[in-house]
Amino acid sequence: MTQKRLYIKTYGCQMNIYDSDRMIGLLKPLGYALTDSPSEADIAILNTCHIREKAEQKVYSDLGRLREQQQERRQNGHDMVIGVGGCVAQAEGQEIIRQAPYVSMVFGPQTYHRLPEMIAKLTRQKSLEQGKRPRGIVDTDFPLESKFDSLTPIDSTPVSAFLSIQEGCDKFCTFCVVPYTRGAEFSRPVAEIVKDAQRLVSLGAKEITLLGQNVNAYHGAAPFASSNGDKEWGLGKLIQEVAKIDGLKRIRYMTSHPRDMDQALIDAHRDIETLMPFIHLPVQSGSDRILEAMNRKHTASDYLKIIERFRHAKEDIAFSSDFIIGFPGETDADHKATLQLVRDVVYAQAYSFNYSIRPGTPAGAMELQVEESVKSERLQELQGLLNEQQLSFNKSKVGTVQPVLFDRKGKFEGQMLGKTPYMQSVPITIPERLLGEIVDVRIEEAYANSVMGTIQEKEIAA
Ligand code: SAH
Ligand code: SF4
Ligand code: F3S
Repeated sequence: MTQKRLYIKTYGCQMNIYDSDRMIGLLKPLGYALTDSPSEADIAILNTCHIREKAEQKVYSDLGRLREQQQERRQNGHDMVIGVGGCVAQAEGQEIIRQAPYVSMVFGPQTYHRLPEMIAKLTRQKSLEQGKRPRGIVDTDFPLESKFDSLTPIDSTPVSAFLSIQEGCDKFCTFCVVPYTRGAEFSRPVAEIVKDAQRLVSLGAKEITLLGQNVNAYHGAAPFASSNGDKEWGLGKLIQEVAKIDGLKRIRYMTSHPRDMDQALIDAHRDIETLMPFIHLPVQSGSDRILEAMNRKHTASDYLKIIERFRHAKEDIAFSSDFIIGFPGETDADHKATLQLVRDVVYAQAYSFNYSIRPGTPAGAMELQVEESVKSERLQELQGLLNEQQLSFNKSKVGTVQPVLFDRKGKFEGQMLGKTPYMQSVPITIPERLLGEIVDVRIEEAYANSVMGTIQEKEIAA
Protein backbone atom coordinates (compact mmCIF):
# COMPACT_ATOMS: atom_id res chain seq x y z
CA MET A 1 0.00 0.00 0.00
CA THR A 2 1.48 3.38 -0.94
CA GLN A 3 1.80 5.81 1.92
CA LYS A 4 -0.80 8.58 1.77
CA ARG A 5 -0.59 11.78 3.76
CA LEU A 6 -3.06 13.37 6.14
CA TYR A 7 -2.86 16.98 7.29
CA ILE A 8 -5.05 18.04 10.17
CA LYS A 9 -5.35 21.43 11.82
CA THR A 10 -7.13 21.70 15.15
CA TYR A 11 -8.84 24.79 16.53
CA GLY A 12 -10.66 25.32 19.82
CA CYS A 13 -10.85 23.27 22.97
CA GLN A 14 -9.35 20.06 24.35
CA MET A 15 -12.32 18.10 23.07
CA ASN A 16 -11.26 18.96 19.54
CA ILE A 17 -7.64 17.98 20.23
CA TYR A 18 -8.91 14.61 21.46
CA ASP A 19 -11.17 14.23 18.40
CA SER A 20 -8.35 15.06 15.97
CA ASP A 21 -6.20 12.32 17.51
CA ARG A 22 -9.06 9.88 17.07
CA MET A 23 -9.43 10.93 13.41
CA ILE A 24 -5.74 10.23 12.88
CA GLY A 25 -6.35 6.79 14.44
CA LEU A 26 -9.30 6.13 12.12
CA LEU A 27 -7.35 6.97 8.97
CA LYS A 28 -4.13 5.16 9.88
CA PRO A 29 -5.44 1.69 8.90
CA LEU A 30 -6.41 3.20 5.53
CA GLY A 31 -2.75 4.03 4.91
CA TYR A 32 -2.68 7.70 5.92
CA ALA A 33 0.32 9.01 7.83
CA LEU A 34 0.36 12.43 9.43
CA THR A 35 2.15 15.36 7.80
CA ASP A 36 2.69 18.95 9.01
CA SER A 37 2.77 20.20 5.48
CA PRO A 38 -0.58 20.70 3.72
CA SER A 39 1.13 20.86 0.32
CA GLU A 40 1.86 17.13 0.53
CA ALA A 41 -1.54 16.12 1.92
CA ASP A 42 -3.86 13.71 0.12
CA ILE A 43 -6.45 14.61 2.72
CA ALA A 44 -6.50 17.92 4.60
CA ILE A 45 -8.90 18.33 7.52
CA LEU A 46 -9.72 21.45 9.49
CA ASN A 47 -11.20 20.48 12.86
CA THR A 48 -12.94 23.73 13.64
CA CYS A 49 -14.27 25.82 16.55
CA HIS A 50 -17.36 28.01 16.51
CA ILE A 51 -17.16 29.52 19.99
CA ARG A 52 -16.31 33.08 18.94
CA GLU A 53 -16.59 34.88 15.62
CA LYS A 54 -12.82 35.14 15.23
CA ALA A 55 -12.39 31.37 15.47
CA GLU A 56 -14.90 30.94 12.67
CA GLN A 57 -13.33 33.59 10.42
CA LYS A 58 -9.98 31.88 10.72
CA VAL A 59 -11.43 28.73 9.20
CA TYR A 60 -12.46 30.55 6.03
CA SER A 61 -9.08 32.22 5.62
CA ASP A 62 -7.30 28.88 6.17
CA LEU A 63 -9.63 27.26 3.62
CA GLY A 64 -8.59 29.85 1.04
CA ARG A 65 -4.96 28.88 1.55
CA LEU A 66 -5.74 25.16 1.33
CA ARG A 67 -7.49 25.76 -1.95
CA GLU A 68 -4.31 27.18 -3.48
CA GLN A 69 -2.39 24.15 -2.28
CA GLN A 70 -5.07 21.88 -3.69
CA GLN A 71 -4.77 23.57 -7.08
CA GLU A 72 -1.00 23.28 -7.05
CA ARG A 73 -1.23 19.59 -6.25
CA ARG A 74 -3.70 19.06 -9.07
CA GLN A 75 -1.36 20.78 -11.51
CA ASN A 76 1.29 18.28 -10.47
CA GLY A 77 -1.00 15.30 -11.04
CA HIS A 78 -2.00 14.77 -7.40
CA ASP A 79 -5.17 15.59 -5.54
CA MET A 80 -6.19 16.85 -2.13
CA VAL A 81 -9.51 16.02 -0.48
CA ILE A 82 -10.46 18.87 1.82
CA GLY A 83 -12.64 18.13 4.85
CA VAL A 84 -14.11 20.50 7.42
CA GLY A 85 -15.00 18.89 10.74
CA GLY A 86 -15.83 20.12 14.22
CA CYS A 87 -18.13 22.82 15.48
CA VAL A 88 -18.18 25.25 12.51
CA ALA A 89 -19.01 22.27 10.29
CA GLN A 90 -21.87 21.31 12.59
CA ALA A 91 -23.22 24.85 12.72
CA GLU A 92 -22.92 25.70 9.02
CA GLY A 93 -23.20 22.35 7.24
CA GLN A 94 -24.02 22.77 3.54
CA GLU A 95 -23.24 26.50 3.69
CA ILE A 96 -19.52 25.66 3.85
CA ILE A 97 -19.69 23.85 0.52
CA ARG A 98 -21.71 26.69 -0.97
CA GLN A 99 -19.03 29.17 0.02
CA ALA A 100 -16.09 26.85 -0.61
CA PRO A 101 -17.13 24.32 -3.30
CA TYR A 102 -13.63 22.82 -3.30
CA VAL A 103 -14.45 21.28 0.12
CA SER A 104 -15.71 17.72 -0.28
CA MET A 105 -16.50 16.57 3.28
CA VAL A 106 -18.31 18.44 6.04
CA PHE A 107 -18.87 16.53 9.26
CA GLY A 108 -19.67 17.32 12.88
CA PRO A 109 -18.11 16.36 16.21
CA GLN A 110 -20.50 13.39 16.53
CA THR A 111 -20.04 11.95 13.01
CA TYR A 112 -16.29 11.93 12.42
CA HIS A 113 -16.20 8.18 13.10
CA ARG A 114 -17.82 7.87 9.66
CA LEU A 115 -14.76 9.39 7.94
CA PRO A 116 -13.62 6.08 6.39
CA GLU A 117 -17.11 5.69 4.86
CA MET A 118 -17.10 9.25 3.54
CA ILE A 119 -13.70 8.76 1.93
CA ALA A 120 -14.80 5.48 0.32
CA LYS A 121 -17.89 7.22 -1.06
CA LEU A 122 -15.82 10.05 -2.54
CA THR A 123 -13.42 7.58 -4.16
CA ARG A 124 -16.34 5.64 -5.70
CA GLN A 125 -17.91 8.83 -6.96
CA LYS A 126 -14.65 9.94 -8.51
CA SER A 127 -14.21 6.74 -10.50
CA LEU A 128 -17.87 6.69 -11.63
CA GLU A 129 -18.10 10.31 -12.69
CA GLN A 130 -14.67 11.01 -14.07
CA GLY A 131 -13.93 14.61 -14.88
CA LYS A 132 -16.89 15.98 -12.93
CA ARG A 133 -16.41 17.85 -9.71
CA PRO A 134 -17.40 15.39 -6.94
CA ARG A 135 -20.46 16.35 -4.94
CA GLY A 136 -19.58 17.20 -1.38
CA ILE A 137 -20.72 15.03 1.52
CA VAL A 138 -22.37 16.75 4.46
CA ASP A 139 -22.84 14.59 7.56
CA THR A 140 -23.94 16.65 10.53
CA ASP A 141 -26.38 14.21 12.19
CA PHE A 142 -26.55 13.63 15.86
CA PRO A 143 -26.54 9.87 15.29
CA LEU A 144 -28.05 7.36 17.68
CA GLU A 145 -24.91 5.26 17.68
CA SER A 146 -22.04 6.57 19.80
CA LYS A 147 -18.91 7.51 17.90
CA PHE A 148 -16.86 5.94 20.69
CA ASP A 149 -18.04 2.46 19.62
CA SER A 150 -16.55 2.95 16.15
CA LEU A 151 -13.20 4.49 17.00
CA THR A 152 -9.99 2.52 16.56
CA PRO A 153 -8.17 1.59 19.77
CA ILE A 154 -5.65 4.19 20.90
CA ASP A 155 -2.17 3.03 19.87
CA SER A 156 0.11 5.81 21.07
CA THR A 157 0.02 8.58 23.65
CA PRO A 158 1.94 11.54 24.96
CA VAL A 159 3.02 11.49 28.62
CA SER A 160 0.10 13.74 29.40
CA ALA A 161 -3.02 12.35 27.70
CA PHE A 162 -6.58 13.52 27.17
CA LEU A 163 -9.48 11.14 27.63
CA SER A 164 -12.96 12.21 26.62
CA ILE A 165 -15.55 10.95 29.14
CA GLN A 166 -18.54 13.20 28.53
CA GLU A 167 -19.87 15.00 25.48
CA GLY A 168 -22.24 17.81 24.72
CA CYS A 169 -24.19 20.16 26.91
CA ASP A 170 -27.80 20.66 27.99
CA LYS A 171 -27.25 23.91 29.87
CA PHE A 172 -27.90 26.43 27.13
CA CYS A 173 -26.05 29.41 28.51
CA THR A 174 -27.49 32.21 26.42
CA PHE A 175 -24.16 33.21 24.83
CA CYS A 176 -22.94 29.75 23.87
CA VAL A 177 -23.06 27.59 20.72
CA VAL A 178 -21.84 24.36 22.29
CA PRO A 179 -25.28 22.77 22.95
CA TYR A 180 -26.02 23.26 19.23
CA THR A 181 -22.65 22.15 17.89
CA ARG A 182 -21.88 19.23 20.20
CA GLY A 183 -25.42 18.09 20.90
CA ALA A 184 -27.06 16.75 24.04
CA GLU A 185 -25.17 15.73 27.13
CA PHE A 186 -23.94 12.15 27.11
CA SER A 187 -21.66 10.22 29.47
CA ARG A 188 -19.56 7.22 28.47
CA PRO A 189 -19.89 4.12 30.66
CA VAL A 190 -17.36 3.80 33.52
CA ALA A 191 -15.99 0.46 32.27
CA GLU A 192 -15.18 1.90 28.84
CA ILE A 193 -13.35 4.86 30.35
CA VAL A 194 -11.35 2.71 32.74
CA LYS A 195 -10.36 0.44 29.85
CA ASP A 196 -9.19 3.43 27.78
CA ALA A 197 -7.31 4.87 30.76
CA GLN A 198 -5.56 1.52 31.36
CA ARG A 199 -4.59 1.39 27.72
CA LEU A 200 -3.20 4.93 27.82
CA VAL A 201 -1.11 4.10 30.87
CA SER A 202 0.17 0.88 29.31
CA LEU A 203 1.26 2.96 26.30
CA GLY A 204 3.20 5.39 28.49
CA ALA A 205 0.75 8.03 29.75
CA LYS A 206 1.62 9.27 33.24
CA GLU A 207 -1.07 11.93 33.48
CA ILE A 208 -4.65 11.74 32.22
CA THR A 209 -7.00 14.69 31.91
CA LEU A 210 -10.62 13.53 31.84
CA LEU A 211 -12.45 15.73 29.36
CA GLY A 212 -15.96 16.98 28.89
CA GLN A 213 -17.70 20.25 28.12
CA ASN A 214 -19.36 19.76 31.51
CA VAL A 215 -17.11 17.11 32.88
CA ASN A 216 -18.52 17.18 36.39
CA ALA A 217 -22.04 16.57 35.05
CA TYR A 218 -20.63 13.11 34.29
CA HIS A 219 -23.06 10.31 35.16
CA GLY A 220 -21.90 7.17 33.39
CA ALA A 221 -23.26 3.63 33.65
CA ALA A 222 -21.78 1.84 36.67
CA PRO A 223 -19.36 -1.02 35.89
CA PHE A 224 -20.96 -3.34 38.46
CA ALA A 225 -23.95 -3.34 40.80
CA SER A 226 -22.95 -1.39 43.87
CA SER A 227 -24.19 -2.14 47.38
CA ASN A 228 -26.28 1.05 47.47
CA GLY A 229 -27.86 0.21 44.11
CA ASP A 230 -26.30 3.14 42.17
CA LYS A 231 -26.74 2.47 38.46
CA GLU A 232 -24.70 5.52 37.52
CA TRP A 233 -21.49 6.97 38.87
CA GLY A 234 -20.55 10.61 39.17
CA LEU A 235 -17.12 12.10 38.46
CA GLY A 236 -15.84 11.71 42.04
CA LYS A 237 -16.46 7.96 42.02
CA LEU A 238 -15.06 7.58 38.49
CA ILE A 239 -11.86 9.32 39.57
CA GLN A 240 -11.52 6.92 42.51
CA GLU A 241 -11.67 4.01 40.08
CA VAL A 242 -9.25 5.55 37.57
CA ALA A 243 -6.84 6.36 40.43
CA LYS A 244 -6.46 2.60 41.06
CA ILE A 245 -4.58 2.16 37.78
CA ASP A 246 -0.99 1.23 38.49
CA GLY A 247 1.51 3.65 36.97
CA LEU A 248 -0.94 6.55 36.57
CA LYS A 249 0.71 9.38 38.45
CA ARG A 250 -1.62 12.31 37.91
CA ILE A 251 -5.32 12.84 37.21
CA ARG A 252 -6.98 16.07 36.12
CA TYR A 253 -10.39 16.95 34.69
CA MET A 254 -11.91 19.81 32.74
CA THR A 255 -14.14 21.80 32.18
CA SER A 256 -16.32 21.91 35.27
CA HIS A 257 -19.49 23.87 35.84
CA PRO A 258 -20.25 25.38 39.26
CA ARG A 259 -23.78 23.94 39.18
CA ASP A 260 -22.57 20.34 38.98
CA MET A 261 -20.10 20.43 41.85
CA ASP A 262 -20.88 17.80 44.47
CA GLN A 263 -19.40 16.59 47.74
CA ALA A 264 -18.05 13.38 46.19
CA LEU A 265 -15.80 15.39 43.90
CA ILE A 266 -14.71 17.70 46.70
CA ASP A 267 -13.92 14.64 48.85
CA ALA A 268 -11.96 13.12 45.98
CA HIS A 269 -9.62 16.12 46.13
CA ARG A 270 -9.10 15.48 49.83
CA ASP A 271 -8.64 11.71 49.53
CA ILE A 272 -6.91 10.99 46.25
CA GLU A 273 -3.29 12.01 46.15
CA THR A 274 -2.95 11.67 42.39
CA LEU A 275 -5.86 14.05 41.75
CA MET A 276 -4.14 17.37 41.10
CA PRO A 277 -5.03 20.41 43.22
CA PHE A 278 -5.92 22.63 40.29
CA ILE A 279 -9.47 23.19 39.02
CA HIS A 280 -10.66 25.05 35.96
CA LEU A 281 -14.03 26.33 37.12
CA PRO A 282 -15.38 29.04 34.80
CA VAL A 283 -17.63 31.67 36.36
CA GLN A 284 -17.96 34.05 33.34
CA SER A 285 -19.11 37.04 35.43
CA GLY A 286 -19.24 38.23 39.02
CA SER A 287 -22.57 40.03 38.63
CA ASP A 288 -25.73 38.18 39.66
CA ARG A 289 -27.77 40.13 37.13
CA ILE A 290 -25.49 39.08 34.29
CA LEU A 291 -25.18 35.51 35.56
CA GLU A 292 -28.96 35.31 35.42
CA ALA A 293 -29.13 36.75 31.92
CA MET A 294 -26.47 34.23 30.92
CA ASN A 295 -28.67 31.42 32.30
CA ARG A 296 -25.80 30.17 34.47
CA LYS A 297 -28.31 29.39 37.27
CA HIS A 298 -26.01 30.29 40.15
CA THR A 299 -25.01 33.50 41.90
CA ALA A 300 -21.57 34.95 42.62
CA SER A 301 -21.97 33.98 46.23
CA ASP A 302 -22.85 30.34 45.31
CA TYR A 303 -19.60 30.26 43.38
CA LEU A 304 -17.56 31.67 46.24
CA LYS A 305 -19.07 29.10 48.58
CA ILE A 306 -17.98 26.27 46.29
CA ILE A 307 -14.43 27.65 46.21
CA GLU A 308 -14.54 27.83 50.00
CA ARG A 309 -15.65 24.18 50.29
CA PHE A 310 -12.78 23.05 48.08
CA ARG A 311 -10.26 25.07 50.03
CA HIS A 312 -11.62 23.65 53.24
CA ALA A 313 -11.11 20.10 51.90
CA LYS A 314 -7.65 20.86 50.51
CA GLU A 315 -5.87 24.00 51.54
CA ASP A 316 -3.45 24.36 48.64
CA ILE A 317 -6.02 23.96 45.85
CA ALA A 318 -5.70 26.50 43.02
CA PHE A 319 -8.31 27.75 40.57
CA SER A 320 -8.61 29.05 37.07
CA SER A 321 -11.64 30.44 35.28
CA ASP A 322 -13.06 31.84 32.06
CA PHE A 323 -14.61 35.29 31.89
CA ILE A 324 -16.81 36.93 29.30
CA ILE A 325 -16.59 40.70 29.18
CA GLY A 326 -19.33 42.87 27.71
CA PHE A 327 -22.25 40.46 27.77
CA PRO A 328 -25.35 42.38 26.55
CA GLY A 329 -26.53 44.84 29.19
CA GLU A 330 -23.29 44.69 31.23
CA THR A 331 -22.87 47.99 33.09
CA ASP A 332 -19.87 49.45 34.88
CA ALA A 333 -21.35 48.19 38.14
CA ASP A 334 -21.60 44.65 36.73
CA HIS A 335 -18.01 44.87 35.59
CA LYS A 336 -16.93 46.05 39.04
CA ALA A 337 -18.71 43.02 40.53
CA THR A 338 -16.60 40.79 38.27
CA LEU A 339 -13.40 42.50 39.43
CA GLN A 340 -14.53 42.06 43.01
CA LEU A 341 -15.17 38.35 42.54
CA VAL A 342 -11.68 37.98 41.09
CA ARG A 343 -10.24 39.72 44.15
CA ASP A 344 -12.26 37.43 46.42
CA VAL A 345 -11.21 34.19 44.74
CA VAL A 346 -7.58 34.99 43.85
CA TYR A 347 -6.90 32.90 40.75
CA ALA A 348 -3.77 31.05 39.70
CA GLN A 349 -4.66 31.45 36.02
CA ALA A 350 -7.58 32.59 33.87
CA TYR A 351 -8.84 33.14 30.35
CA SER A 352 -10.94 36.13 29.45
CA PHE A 353 -12.67 37.10 26.24
CA ASN A 354 -14.77 39.89 24.83
CA TYR A 355 -18.33 38.72 24.33
CA SER A 356 -18.84 37.64 20.73
CA ILE A 357 -22.32 37.54 19.19
CA ARG A 358 -23.10 34.00 18.06
CA PRO A 359 -25.84 33.44 15.48
CA GLY A 360 -28.80 31.49 16.79
CA THR A 361 -28.07 32.05 20.49
CA PRO A 362 -30.53 34.00 22.67
CA ALA A 363 -27.91 36.58 23.73
CA GLY A 364 -27.09 37.33 20.11
CA ALA A 365 -30.58 38.77 19.71
CA MET A 366 -30.54 40.74 22.98
CA GLU A 367 -30.71 44.49 22.97
CA LEU A 368 -28.11 46.63 24.73
CA GLN A 369 -25.09 45.06 23.07
CA VAL A 370 -22.02 46.65 24.65
CA GLU A 371 -19.81 48.80 22.42
CA GLU A 372 -16.52 47.23 21.32
CA SER A 373 -14.44 50.07 22.77
CA VAL A 374 -16.08 49.62 26.18
CA LYS A 375 -15.54 45.86 26.05
CA SER A 376 -11.88 46.32 25.23
CA GLU A 377 -11.33 48.78 28.06
CA ARG A 378 -13.00 46.48 30.56
CA LEU A 379 -11.13 43.47 29.24
CA GLN A 380 -7.84 45.27 29.69
CA GLU A 381 -8.69 46.14 33.27
CA LEU A 382 -9.74 42.58 34.09
CA GLN A 383 -6.70 41.07 32.40
CA GLY A 384 -4.43 43.46 34.30
CA LEU A 385 -5.82 42.14 37.57
CA LEU A 386 -5.73 38.49 36.46
CA ASN A 387 -2.12 38.81 35.26
CA GLU A 388 -1.13 40.31 38.60
CA GLN A 389 -2.76 37.39 40.40
CA GLN A 390 -1.10 34.84 38.13
CA LEU A 391 2.35 36.35 38.67
CA SER A 392 1.88 36.54 42.40
CA PHE A 393 0.65 32.94 42.48
CA ASN A 394 3.80 31.89 40.60
CA LYS A 395 5.95 33.97 42.96
CA SER A 396 4.31 32.34 45.98
CA LYS A 397 5.97 29.06 44.94
CA VAL A 398 9.50 30.52 44.88
CA GLY A 399 11.55 28.79 47.57
CA THR A 400 9.33 25.69 47.60
CA VAL A 401 10.15 22.29 46.17
CA GLN A 402 7.57 21.15 43.61
CA PRO A 403 7.09 17.73 42.07
CA VAL A 404 7.32 18.43 38.34
CA LEU A 405 6.11 16.00 35.69
CA PHE A 406 8.27 16.38 32.58
CA ASP A 407 5.86 15.67 29.78
CA ARG A 408 7.28 17.33 26.64
CA LYS A 409 10.42 18.37 24.88
CA GLY A 410 11.03 22.12 24.93
CA LYS A 411 11.80 24.51 22.10
CA PHE A 412 15.57 24.42 22.60
CA GLU A 413 18.09 21.60 22.26
CA GLY A 414 18.15 19.54 25.47
CA GLN A 415 15.27 21.47 27.03
CA MET A 416 12.26 19.76 28.57
CA LEU A 417 8.97 21.17 29.71
CA GLY A 418 7.34 20.09 32.92
CA LYS A 419 4.28 20.97 34.96
CA THR A 420 3.86 21.54 38.65
CA PRO A 421 0.67 20.19 40.25
CA TYR A 422 -0.79 23.69 39.63
CA MET A 423 -0.22 23.60 35.85
CA GLN A 424 2.72 25.99 36.03
CA SER A 425 5.05 25.40 33.13
CA VAL A 426 8.68 24.57 34.08
CA PRO A 427 11.29 24.71 31.28
CA ILE A 428 14.63 23.11 32.25
CA THR A 429 17.63 21.58 30.49
CA ILE A 430 17.71 18.01 31.76
CA PRO A 431 18.58 14.56 30.44
CA GLU A 432 15.96 13.12 28.12
CA ARG A 433 15.66 10.00 30.26
CA LEU A 434 13.63 12.10 32.70
CA LEU A 435 10.79 12.46 30.19
CA GLY A 436 7.70 11.02 31.88
CA GLU A 437 9.25 11.25 35.33
CA ILE A 438 8.14 13.34 38.27
CA VAL A 439 11.17 15.17 39.57
CA ASP A 440 11.57 17.45 42.59
CA VAL A 441 12.45 20.97 41.50
CA ARG A 442 13.34 23.85 43.80
CA ILE A 443 11.55 26.87 42.36
CA GLU A 444 13.82 29.92 42.20
CA GLU A 445 12.27 32.34 39.71
CA ALA A 446 8.71 33.19 38.75
CA TYR A 447 7.44 34.76 35.53
CA ALA A 448 4.02 35.50 34.12
CA ASN A 449 3.68 32.17 32.33
CA SER A 450 6.32 29.91 33.84
CA VAL A 451 8.51 29.18 36.83
CA MET A 452 12.15 28.13 36.79
CA GLY A 453 14.34 26.30 39.24
CA THR A 454 16.91 23.60 39.78
CA ILE A 455 16.49 19.90 40.10
CA GLN A 456 17.28 18.50 43.51
CA GLU A 457 20.69 16.82 43.34
CA LYS A 458 19.53 13.34 44.25
CA GLU A 459 17.34 13.32 41.11
CA ILE A 460 20.24 14.00 38.78
CA ALA A 461 22.39 11.31 40.37
CA ALA A 462 19.58 8.74 40.13
N1 SAH B 1 -18.58 24.46 29.45
C1 SAH B 1 -17.72 25.49 29.88
C2 SAH B 1 -17.23 26.40 28.80
C3 SAH B 1 -17.15 26.00 27.39
S1 SAH B 1 -16.85 27.23 26.18
C4 SAH B 1 -18.49 26.33 30.92
O1 SAH B 1 -19.66 26.25 31.01
O2 SAH B 1 -17.86 27.08 31.60
C5 SAH B 1 -15.31 27.91 26.68
C6 SAH B 1 -15.35 29.35 27.04
O3 SAH B 1 -15.60 30.14 25.90
C7 SAH B 1 -16.46 29.72 28.00
O4 SAH B 1 -16.13 29.45 29.32
C8 SAH B 1 -16.66 31.19 27.74
O5 SAH B 1 -15.88 31.97 28.61
C9 SAH B 1 -16.18 31.37 26.31
N2 SAH B 1 -17.30 31.69 25.41
C10 SAH B 1 -18.34 30.91 25.09
N3 SAH B 1 -19.20 31.58 24.27
C11 SAH B 1 -18.67 32.81 24.09
C12 SAH B 1 -19.10 33.98 23.38
N4 SAH B 1 -20.24 33.99 22.70
N5 SAH B 1 -18.30 35.07 23.42
C13 SAH B 1 -17.15 35.07 24.13
N6 SAH B 1 -16.71 34.02 24.82
C14 SAH B 1 -17.46 32.90 24.81
FE1 SF4 C 1 -21.63 26.53 26.81
FE2 SF4 C 1 -22.84 26.94 29.10
FE3 SF4 C 1 -22.73 24.51 28.10
FE4 SF4 C 1 -20.53 25.66 29.05
S1 SF4 C 1 -22.36 25.11 30.22
S2 SF4 C 1 -20.73 24.53 27.13
S3 SF4 C 1 -20.83 27.76 28.47
S4 SF4 C 1 -23.83 26.23 27.25
FE1 F3S D 1 -15.00 25.39 20.08
FE2 F3S D 1 -16.58 23.36 19.73
FE3 F3S D 1 -14.76 23.28 21.62
S1 F3S D 1 -17.15 25.47 19.58
S2 F3S D 1 -14.59 25.42 22.19
S3 F3S D 1 -14.38 23.36 19.47
S4 F3S D 1 -16.78 22.40 21.70
